[in-house]
Formats: sequence, structure tokens, C-alpha cells
Amino acid sequence: MKLEQGYPESMLASIAEVERTRAERLETRFPKLEATEAEQLLQRYHPDYRPEGKRAIAVGPNRGDQAPHELVDLLEAQPRITPGDVDLSRIDHEIDLLILGGGGAGTVAALWAVAEGLEPNQILIATKLRHGDANSMMAQGGIQAAVAPGDSPAQHFLDAYGGGHFTNRRELVRALVEDAPGILRWHEKLGVLYDRDTAGEMLRKHGGGTSRMRMHSAKDYTGMELMRVLRDAARDLEIPVLEFASALELLTDEVGRVAGAVLVDLETSCYRVVRARATLLATGGFGRLHIQGYATTNHYGATADGLVLAYRAGARLRDMDAVQYHPTGAAYPEQLVGQLITEKVRSMGAQPINCHGVQFVYPLEPRDVEASAFIRECYERGNQVDTPTGFSGVWLDSPMVEAIHGPGTIERNLAAMARMFRRFDIDMTRQPILVFPTLHYQNGGIAIDPDGRTEVPGLFAAGEVSGGIHGKNRLMGNSLLDYNVFGRRAGRAAAQDILAGVAPGPAVTLEHAYRHAEACRQAGITGELRSPLLLPDYRGKEALSRRIDLL
Ligand code: FUM
Repeated sequence: MKLEQGYPESMLASIAEVERTRAERLETRFPKLEATEAEQLLQRYHPDYRPEGKRAIAVGPNRGDQAPHELVDLLEAQPRITPGDVDLSRIDHEIDLLILGGGGAGTVAALWAVAEGLEPNQILIATKLRHGDANSMMAQGGIQAAVAPGDSPAQHFLDAYGGGHFTNRRELVRALVEDAPGILRWHEKLGVLYDRDTAGEMLRKHGGGTSRMRMHSAKDYTGMELMRVLRDAARDLEIPVLEFASALELLTDEVGRVAGAVLVDLETSCYRVVRARATLLATGGFGRLHIQGYATTNHYGATADGLVLAYRAGARLRDMDAVQYHPTGAAYPEQLVGQLITEKVRSMGAQPINCHGVQFVYPLEPRDVEASAFIRECYERGNQVDTPTGFSGVWLDSPMVEAIHGPGTIERNLAAMARMFRRFDIDMTRQPILVFPTLHYQNGGIAIDPDGRTEVPGLFAAGEVSGGIHGKNRLMGNSLLDYNVFGRRAGRAAAQDILAGVAPGPAVTLEHAYRHAEACRQAGITGELRSPLLLPDYRGKEALSRRIDLL
């Protein structure tokens, strides 16, 4: 196939249409949707509203609730550990606080548990991959915090609550927005380098669904910059980290209080039994389940492990029927399909354009609405651009960013993105890029209170594994904030319990997991699948649907 500056001939006529209409589009402003139109768009086109994409959970605390098939399969699968596999009388680690997950939430929780008074060597971060090797590291666009004149936590609350369709737990949103300015100050003290103007003022941008500019970023690798600093802070404190150690099951005592976990060493396949006074889940979300066949922006570790473990121990989940599809996943070239194109590109002026060069939606609707408009354009109106490998998408007119803000803007503000496309001979400063919604975030998760306590004693949760903060739809920049706010709150609350002498009883058992497995069998669930999944398995499969069966 002959490529013309990165694109095949079949896509060039459509690019010419985008170029033809650009000057006129620079002068016009596409209107935002009215609330009723937005609602209709969601109902008709958003994947969450397709009944065939989900089913009722048959067993456990959420019996009867709808969730995606891919998740229900794992919640109802058999445990990986069968009775007799692990000698629970041999304890490998006896510690105060076990943190499962070495991404942003787990690392923040550990730092604040130490600040609260725990000895660093009485904490263990056990992580499936390497420390920091998680979705937090991959975040691009920024973090919301209402610190500017004319903005306020109350305004931030209204945006987040409205964006979540008023289904968020209000106490959690309040904690999120009220803690945000303090989190930013803490980052600055630790050494995070946020973007500033020449006068030293922090730069701020809009995100989809925000009424004020309160997105703070470090170019388009904000997550990496944050994780760099947080991980260094944890290393400075010498907080122990066990890498390639994945949790297979939580442990409970004789009354069901969580008492640690059984880990597996992914290199040797040996088990490790960790007994802990408190256990904190920070294992991230479920993007790698490729719900409804969608490509994903997510890290390989995002396989819903924490949800499965907590569910078997009796934790209630919420909003699991709400999946976030980021409107702008890369749709071309094939090697980049599903990768994140940060919302910041739209917040700096890039417009979504169909194959005829026509803008079809306001660029910064809340994500679920924006993604629905993209799906309609491609799958109902037939205004998509098809790629040679059978994928479809619409254009994101990235050269508008330079047209609005001047040459060099993309290189300065979207450096990682520009380089990603340059590797495939596409110059996003001059050429539009092809995009389609991609699975980005688990909106729901384990029900928590504002201190990250789950409904199971001894078990805390923070970050994407937890639910209630974002309701049915998270806004951009509230996930980096979420893991900092609730990592801090959960780490402190766990430490306070431990220092107050709260602890599980002497026994450690896996009885809760076997009871759940038996309940599944009683419900007639007989499959061979075992969970947690640990890593996605792409062997011998068509990993992604080429044309998603959407409508
Ligand atoms: O578009 C983005 O940069 C994503 C940000 C987020 O999910 O918060």
C-alpha cells in the first residue's frame, strides 16, 4: 500500500475536504447540545444503553444488578486457588498495611499512611507489574482543581455531579472537590512540574463538561510527571514494594474481616501469604476486558482483579453498568488503534470533522455525549472514514491548534502526541488525525465512604477500583484528582485504625472465596473460567472487532 505522508490514497480525498473547510470553521462556533438532545444521543448510541451488552449478576452482594458480560463472567468465575493449594499456617509477611496495586492510588495511600504515623517498613505495596506501571502513568491531559479566581469547589462540584448525571455519591464528590486545591499544593511541594506561563502562573484549560478552566497539566504527559514524583517520594521513605506479585485472593478472619491477601509471584509462581491489620485495594479498573469489543487506552494490568477479590469478600459494587468510552482513541494507523488522543487537543481548538469536512458536534461535550455523537456519525449517518484494515473513524482537525495559537504550539503542549504520530510519518501540526471512541475508564467500582472504607471491615479502596465518585460518567481530569484525594484519605484512615489497635482476629482463611464459588455453582454457573484474570490473553484470538456491532 502506497502511503502519502503517512496516509493511504483512499483517505486523501477526505483529508482534502477537511483542509477545504478549515478557514471557514475557524470563524464559526458549533453550538452545545441542549440537555434533551444530549440525552437522546446517549440513549440511542452510547454502548452503555445497549441491553445486549450486559446482564444481571446472579450471585453476591449485587445480585440482580446489570453489568457488562465481560465483568460478570469474572465475578462468577471460580477462584484460582483451590483448597489445599496454599499453606495458610505459614505467614510470609506480617505487617500493618497491605496495599494491593502500585499505581497512583496505592503510592499516594502509602505516603499518607506514613505521614499519619505508620512505620514505612510496616507497609507493603504489592504490585502485579512494576511500581508505577499502571494507568496513572499513562494519563495525559491533566488534573482538575478549582484554584483560580472566579472558580470554586462548589462550581467544580456542580460540573462533576452534572457530568455524572446526578448519580454520584454527593459526599464523595464534595471530598473530591474540596481536597483538590490542597492536593495541588502538596504536588508542588513534592516537586511536580506543572505548566506555567512566562509570569510563573499555572496554566489552565477547559475539559469536556467543565464550566471553568481548571485543568492543570504537564504538557500531555501529566500522569507520568505525577508518578515520577510520587514514586520517588515512596522510594525516599523506603516503603517496601513487591513487584510482579499479584493478589489472587483476600484473606478473611473468622468473622469476615479482611486480614491480608494471598499473592502469587509471577516469575516463580510461588504463593506468599501476607497477614495485615488493614488492606487497601488500589488495583485500577477493567479496560483490558475490551467491553463490547472496544479497543482501549488502558494498561495491560487493567483486568478488574480488585473488583473480583473484593466482591468475593462481600464488598458491594456500584455503577458497574457505566463504562467510559473516550471519544478520541486513535483509529489510524493500525498500530495505534485505541491509544489515547488527549482531550486537551480539543480543548486547544481541534474540531471533530466528518469525511465531508463538516463539523458535527461541539468539541467539548461531556465524554459520553461526545462519544455517542462520534458513533452516530460513523454508524448511522455513514459519514465515517474507513481505514485499509477495516476500522472507521472521524477526523480530529489538529492543525487548528496551530492555526489558533500559532506555530510550535503542538510541539510545546502536545509533545508526546506529536511524536507518537510522527513515528508513522503523520504530522499532526499539518494533517488531521483519525479517531474513534475507545474504552478508557471504569466509572463505577467498589462502594466506599469518604475515607475510602468499603462495606467490608478491614478493607479500603482508592482510585479507579472504587465507585461512586463519578456516578455514571467521569469528567476529564477528575481521575488524577480522584486517586490523589482518595488515596490520601484511605491511607490516612487505614493508618488511624491500625494505630488505634483495630485488627483482624488470629485466623486467616479463604472461606469467603469458597462460599462464593459454591453459591455460583448452586446458581447453575458451571464454566471453567477462573479469576482474577491477572493479564489479558490475546493468544489465538481476534483481539478487537473491526466493525463494532453497535446499532
Ligand atoms: O483526555 C485525556 O487526557 C484524559 C484525561 C482523563 O481521563 O482524565
